[in-house]
Amino acid sequence: MNLRCDLRSDTVTRPCAGMRAAMASAEVGDDVYGEDPTVTRLEDRLAEMLGKEAGLFLPSGSMSNLCALMSLGQRGDAVITGKPYHVNAWEAGSASVLGAMMLVVLEPGADAGLAGADVAAAIFEDDPHFARSRILSIENTVSGQAVSLTRMDEAIAPARQAGLAVHLDGARLFNAALGLGVDASELAARADTVSVCLSKGLGAPVGTCLVGPREVLYQARRARKLLGGGMRQAGVLAAAALWALDHVLPELHADHARAEALAEGLGKLGLGQVRQATNMVHLHPDPSLGDVHALLAAQGVLIGAPHPESRMVLHRDVDDTALEAALSCFDQFSSV
Ligand SMILES: Cc1ncc(COP(=O)(O)O)c(C=O)c1O
Repeated sequence: MNLRCDLRSDTVTRPCAGMRAAMASAEVGDDVYGEDPTVTRLEDRLAEMLGKEAGLFLPSGSMSNLCALMSLGQRGDAVITGKPYHVNAWEAGSASVLGAMMLVVLEPGADAGLAGADVAAAIFEDDPHFARSRILSIENTVSGQAVSLTRMDEAIAPARQAGLAVHLDGARLFNAALGLGVDASELAARADTVSVCLSKGLGAPVGTCLVGPREVLYQARRARKLLGGGMRQAGVLAAAALWALDHVLPELHADHARAEALAEGLGKLGLGQVRQATNMVHLHPDPSLGDVHALLAAQGVLIGAPHPESRMVLHRDVDDTALEAALSCFDQFSSV
């Protein structure tokens, strides 16, 4: 198969020559000893950008979320989160298996945010029968959807009132900020800890940075070690992330524009229900079209497996030519 356009995820990007050159020339040291200057530079830079005291570079978003929960709470604590949010749905149950925490899951609204009343009702009374409600874990973007500041505030208010800590899974924080037209620090200011992936829309090959209060991040460093996530000369990876902050972040809007163009093109072809938000497009294909996913794959256009919607994610390795190729492949279904 000649791969023409890979829309499955923004995690499929490959480092370009500029990023690879930055990685090759990175100054490195043993980061478990705290001696990798490039990792330290990345942690400090993201902490500063997001208005937090400290940062911690981790191998993945899943580990970053787990380290945040393990640092904000303890075994036996209850974490309130959204049912489809990554922490609950896509991390192999790690908060329960490894964090020994109870997840209390809420159904988000159509805008992917949690309702304040639902959060308030999910907070347990202080009673020996119940787990201690300790953390609210929110997400932005959620499947591409940017949750508004108002909606975030609505969910957070009852949690704060009851003394809960707030973690924000901002795997795509910069897409959320762009979608809402605000600075990423405004989103970050609402949470104690924020997890930001470098390996998604930003295009770095590996890595996530957790930012938050120095004391919490000290605990997170221990949790990272416990989970086997301490990395040695990780500066080669941090260098890619720093390069991405300089060169990819300023261009992130192009992914959103191409997502709009893709949604518009699919809408014109009348293939089914289409919705687009930030860098993602979801298509619920008309069943008469057959196995769209497989037919496109045979022609070198990869989209997410139908669940039943198929997800398409725009990223820096999808340029206008690749997008055109995808749209022309979709075109064959318009006459089915
Ligand atoms: C919202 C969200 N959080 C966390 C993660 C986990 O990131 P990783 O795959 O690096 O563990 C993902 C991955 O897609 C995600 O979409």
